[in-house]
Amino acid sequence: MKSAVKVTITGAAGNIGYALVFRIASGAMFGPDQPVILKLLEIPQSMSSVKGVGMELEDCAFPLLHDVVMTDNPAIGFRDTDYAILIGAKPRGKGMERKDLITENAKIFSVQGKAINDHASRDVKVLVVGNPANTNALIAASNAPDLDKRQFTAMTRLDHNRAIGQLANKTNSLVADIKRVTVWGNHSSTQFPHIDNCEIAGKPVYDLVSQDWAIDHFIPRVQRRGAEIIEARGLSSAASAADAIVDHMHDWALGTPDGDWVSMAIPSDGSYGIEEGLVYSYPVTCKDGSYEIVQGLELDEFSVSRLKATQQELLEERAIIADLLGG
Ligand code: NAD
Ligand code: LMR
Repeated sequence: MKSAVKVTITGAAGNIGYALVFRIASGAMFGPDQPVILKLLEIPQSMSSVKGVGMELEDCAFPLLHDVVMTDNPAIGFRDTDYAILIGAKPRGKGMERKDLITENAKIFSVQGKAINDHASRDVKVLVVGNPANTNALIAASNAPDLDKRQFTAMTRLDHNRAIGQLANKTNSLVADIKRVTVWGNHSSTQFPHIDNCEIAGKPVYDLVSQDWAIDHFIPRVQRRGAEIIEARGLSSAASAADAIVDHMHDWALGTPDGDWVSMAIPSDGSYGIEEGLVYSYPVTCKDGSYEIVQGLELDEFSVSRLKATQQELLEERAIIADLLGG
């Protein structure tokens, strides 16, 4: 049997955490032959609640779950961890944009970036989910000078999956037949869900939908889906967010299928004219625990303007938290 990997989940007692930890323990994230040790990092006020989550995990008797650690101490929570999933942060309410959370949530990620730097495995893979996710990932990475910035990513996989869901619905297609969707930029309403390269069951997407539909309906629907869910539930997405976390980490660790790609927010290397260092969502392929940006995609004038607009928002967010960007 393989040795267990350590997975830290911050905010494990929250809505997303509760929808996530059982799936990791069941093998959905790293496969049916990979044991896991879960490290649930919470704040002192939520320790009682996270202990309840720990009891429920025990009651499931998952064969792959080798241990559960519950703590409010980041040094313990991140010690030797292989995967860190940073969810713990405040969610937005109705009528807010995600960036309205920036001042309240940003400090969490400078503290956790430092703790990851000091205590995690040198190969740790970090996924930031707490909003505004891209800028929080930038903060965490900047506060971890001993690690490679490429180890820090933010989640746009939910937007990617939402885009596929909308296309499947519109074209009456199977999700498995939809390939090469991209979400560029920020996990916010400026993101650019882009389907020019998409194929559905081997056909170019524009054989099945019009460009007008994409511009007038599809793009705004995906951009505003988080708000649509908050409006309907009174709470932000949780189960679909947990599902996207499983997908993001699964593909990063185990690889993407041939002929397709996924969207991940990663530190820009300057590809497609985006400022180096910004945590920006790109189309990526993953293999052997590493990711690469898909290069050479043609972008028309409309697409370039959308890539720039979402970059501009990230530059503005970065300016707000400039004092938290360590070394
Ligand atoms: P929630 O309020 O239900 O849970 C948050 C949990 O985090 C709570 O249990 C709280 O005690 C804990 N927490 C707060 N500060 C912490 C800290 N410093 N260390 C450890 N734990 C801490 O919220 P939720 O619905 O689970 O959402 C969490 C975050 O994820 C929000 O910021 C939300 O906007 C974001 N989110 C992002 C995406 C995405 O696609 N990137 C999707 C959905 C939600
Ligand atoms: C989402 O996309 O559902 C999350 O980022 C929560 C939100 O605030 O929209």
